[in-house]
Amino acid sequence: MTTIGIEDYGFATGSRRFELADLAEHEGIDANKYLVGIGQEAFSVPTFDEDIVTLAASAATTMIDRLSPDARDSIRTLIVATESGIDQSKAAAIYVHELLELGPHVRAFEIKQACYGGTAALATAQGIVARHPDERVLIVATDIARYDPDSSGEATQGGAAVALLISASPRILAFDKAQGLSTEDAMDFWRPNYRTTARVDGRLSIQVYIRQVLSAWDDYSGHGGRPFTDLHTLCYHQPFTKMASKAHLKLARHLESGQTPSDLDAQLAPTFRYNRIVGNSYTASMYVGFLGLIEHADDLAGRALGFVSYGSGAMCEVFSGEVLPTYLKTRHTEATTAMLDARQPVDFATYRELYYGYPNPTDGSAFETPHDTSLPFRLAGIDHDERRYATSA
Ligand code: COA
Repeated sequence: MTTIGIEDYGFATGSRRFELADLAEHEGIDANKYLVGIGQEAFSVPTFDEDIVTLAASAATTMIDRLSPDARDSIRTLIVATESGIDQSKAAAIYVHELLELGPHVRAFEIKQACYGGTAALATAQGIVARHPDERVLIVATDIARYDPDSSGEATQGGAAVALLISASPRILAFDKAQGLSTEDAMDFWRPNYRTTARVDGRLSIQVYIRQVLSAWDDYSGHGGRPFTDLHTLCYHQPFTKMASKAHLKLARHLESGQTPSDLDAQLAPTFRYNRIVGNSYTASMYVGFLGLIEHADDLAGRALGFVSYGSGAMCEVFSGEVLPTYLKTRHTEATTAMLDARQPVDFATYRELYYGYPNPTDGSAFETPHDTSLPFRLAGIDHDERRYATSA
């Protein structure tokens, strides 16, 4: 059987950083509600010339540049997963394909199921590589989480993109065959076409998330999955890091693993490292957790990791894989850290202006965006409803 896994990856996030302590100050509440209660410290804020397309292309570009010409030509599928798409018809993948200068013979499309979309792309990629082991599939999970100002969701915003190169010559992680699935119809989080911000029933989403995780885990076990206690750690979808802690505790109790709450917290903590300061990146968030883990732990070779991918509405998939010894030479800790550290801090007024004042014309009017991003690609403007992208150079 062909071994399929992650060969390489890339990461990008918004160029500005907003502290949740400043949100708490604006609200006149104790900052520990955010720092401790939901387990978040800060979130990335996009500039006006950043969107899900520029984040996606910026996450993928360095990885593409590292490939040999033959390996680059073997990318015949590009899947962009997002739930904050910029067009109801045209796929963000087409714009990303153009910015990355991939060849014409590529299947490029967008995929959606709330925060689960990145994993839907991954499952699709594995099917393609299984049938064509000589091909590579580029998947990019990219999102900017937006909730109404002064709503309870405001603290759980953020944005990032993670690009993954899926192939039959993995260097970071080899996927197991077992996949656990669970779907139910729930109105815990959604965004009708006419809204730019999501609707969320936060309390319900916590309940549905946990219910779905247990159901998907049982299905994973029933399909030959690894025992819970064989997993070194698990990467959960993290709308806020405390959500992962809650689900992990419930799953451990469901499985009667015998671990204490502090053992379970310590097991997940390395996956929180980036999400605590990037915020919610919807489809990308579980993969941001994975990067935080592999970029800072040196003892993962040969260890099994679990993945718990949840998307409201609701769908959950549990899968697993084994970390390959070559991950130590393939990871990009310095690049990720540099990008996170380069974010400029913004005060409350600037954050609100960037987050809610961004140009979003509905009348075809034209505008140019100021050049503020520090990412390689930018949204240069919009004219007659057409988005114009450019390199930042
Ligand atoms: N110190 C420590 N903890 C504190 C605190 C303080 N001073 N003040 C409050 N807390 C705790 C609360 O006890 C609560 O913890 P618990 O859930 O373990 O009981 C937590 O902080 C959050 O407080 P809560 O009053 O529930 O916050 P909220 O009503 O503002 O809602 C969310 C929080 C996360 C539900 C809300 O931000 C949300 O809905 N976000 C979107 C989530 C989402 O995207 N879901 C869909 C995808 S899964």
